[in-house]
Amino acid sequence: MDTDFLVIGSGIAGLTYALKVAQNFPEKSITILTKAQSDETNTKYAQGGIAGVMDFDKDSFDKHIEDTLIAGDGLCNKEVVEIVVKEGVERIKEIINWGAKFDKEPDGDFKLGKEGGHSEFRILHHKDVTGKEMERALLDAIKKTPNIHLINHCYVLDLITQHHLGYLVTKSTPDIECFGVYVLNLNSKKIEKIVAKITLLATGGNGQVYRTTTNPAIATGDGVAMVYRAKGRIENMEFIQFHPTALYEPGVRGQSFLITEAVRGDGGVLRNHTGEAFMEKYDPRKDLAPRDIVARAIDNEMKISGTEFMYLDCTHFTKEKFTEHFPNIYEKCLSLGIDITKDMIPIAPAAHYSCGGIKTDEWARTSINNLYAAGECACTGLHGANRLASNSLLEAMVFAHRAYTDASKKITITDYSNATFDWSSIPDWNAAGTNAPKEMILITQSLKEMKLLMSDYVGIVRNNERLHRAHKRLDLLHEETEALYEKTEVSPQLCELRNMITVAYLIVKCAEFRHESRGLHYNTDFLNKNSKPHNIVL
Ligand code: FAD
Ligand code: SIN
Repeated sequence: MDTDFLVIGSGIAGLTYALKVAQNFPEKSITILTKAQSDETNTKYAQGGIAGVMDFDKDSFDKHIEDTLIAGDGLCNKEVVEIVVKEGVERIKEIINWGAKFDKEPDGDFKLGKEGGHSEFRILHHKDVTGKEMERALLDAIKKTPNIHLINHCYVLDLITQHHLGYLVTKSTPDIECFGVYVLNLNSKKIEKIVAKITLLATGGNGQVYRTTTNPAIATGDGVAMVYRAKGRIENMEFIQFHPTALYEPGVRGQSFLITEAVRGDGGVLRNHTGEAFMEKYDPRKDLAPRDIVARAIDNEMKISGTEFMYLDCTHFTKEKFTEHFPNIYEKCLSLGIDITKDMIPIAPAAHYSCGGIKTDEWARTSINNLYAAGECACTGLHGANRLASNSLLEAMVFAHRAYTDASKKITITDYSNATFDWSSIPDWNAAGTNAPKEMILITQSLKEMKLLMSDYVGIVRNNERLHRAHKRLDLLHEETEALYEKTEVSPQLCELRNMITVAYLIVKCAEFRHESRGLHYNTDFLNKNSKPHNIVL
């Protein structure tokens, strides 16, 4: 299959970009590939909302910029922060025009929430299911756009570059080109080659690398691993954000249910097992300190008390007040026998967001030609060492728009008839020497080991010995998985394991290179910050 614009991923970044490109170029073909059902994305699970300066009487761009820079702990790119905060408001208006609904006050103004690290109320939301509403609106608009072809259950295996034409490609190859992707089409069970003029990676996060995460099963870091294999640049992977308040359910592994930070914004209080509101011991901003601080405080309290969870106290809310903003959380808790007006909610931190990723410039361009990246898989410079709450959906839309702007220029000025080689010469996928998998245990056991070692050694608190041990064990898992990959027919399970081991390795490698504690990276062997903030690029 050939397409003009190829989009990998159907979350907020991929869908926003696809809509814009399709509307600007009604005569061109846009193909969106997604490995699961189209709405099964991190986007769908977003609760708290999207940050944006809406009330210029109380709030200002400067305040939002300042809050983002403080949370980012010295590593944000200020120019990018200004771009996102200022352009974000236009992007929010666009998604409203596409049909997304945000809660309003009786006078018609937006109801604005507050989350950790924000100095003002500036979070637009749709109850506590904001992402679901945004994803719905985007998918509805996509359905009405005839030149977009959205294909579910297509697992992208790898980017096609000069490597597949027989050239040696290394990190120092000057002009690596992306010609499209190889895809395992789970509908036809065939491996297909899709050639594209321009490709956007919008593959989301990597929370599944950890044992407990707020992310759904799709969040396996595939885009980052593909770019790394293709010798593209990856940045700041050590900054994994742990959300302080995932619902603690004994025995539940994989995806944990989130209790949005907006609950603390509305007055929820963290307490330990003696009932103490412990956050005041850690930060003057208490429960609304930035996430790295709150997650570390909870981790510390759990270690002191030897328990696996703390509490979020909402017992001072009435049912009416709580359900007006958080009906989904209320129902979920009730289904587990927790009546939030009488019982405190058991919570524990869980892997939530990857601040690092595929290095991109201010136009969402990666280090590989014809390849853009936007959304959680990208590292734009907005978040630095720690993302400010609710800045992610905003960043995804701003950089989807910027990718669209740059890609539109590129496709218009490029003369594709003058290509230096015949595109039909790109070979089919080479499956020589592979056989059907003999036993899944070889994959599932390695997956368990990787998640366990990442949670225990590369979690909220790190040290050199833990990182060293994690590195050694990942080397072994990598060696075994590559050997298995060489001789086994590809499957999403095997490829996701391979990708997650690569991502885990990149997290550990960046963590080992950072000889300081900064933002989300807290190493007890390097408790101070180096005076000169620096990014780590692999
Ligand atoms: P996603 O929405 O995750 O989409 C990724 C897409 O890529 C999926 O369609 C997936 O199938 C596809 N894909 C991945 N790999 C492949 C492959 N190999 N082949 C084909 N397709 C592939 N942020 C906020 O700003 N505000 C919030 O309130 C908020 N709440 C959150 C709550 C939760 C529980 C979670 C998990 C995250 C939250 N975030 C929030 C973060 C935010 O939701 C995500 O960062 C954002 O939605 C990511 O969007 P995306 O488009 O980059 O990726
Ligand atoms: C939340 O609702 O607490 C999550 C917000 C975010 O991840 O930005």
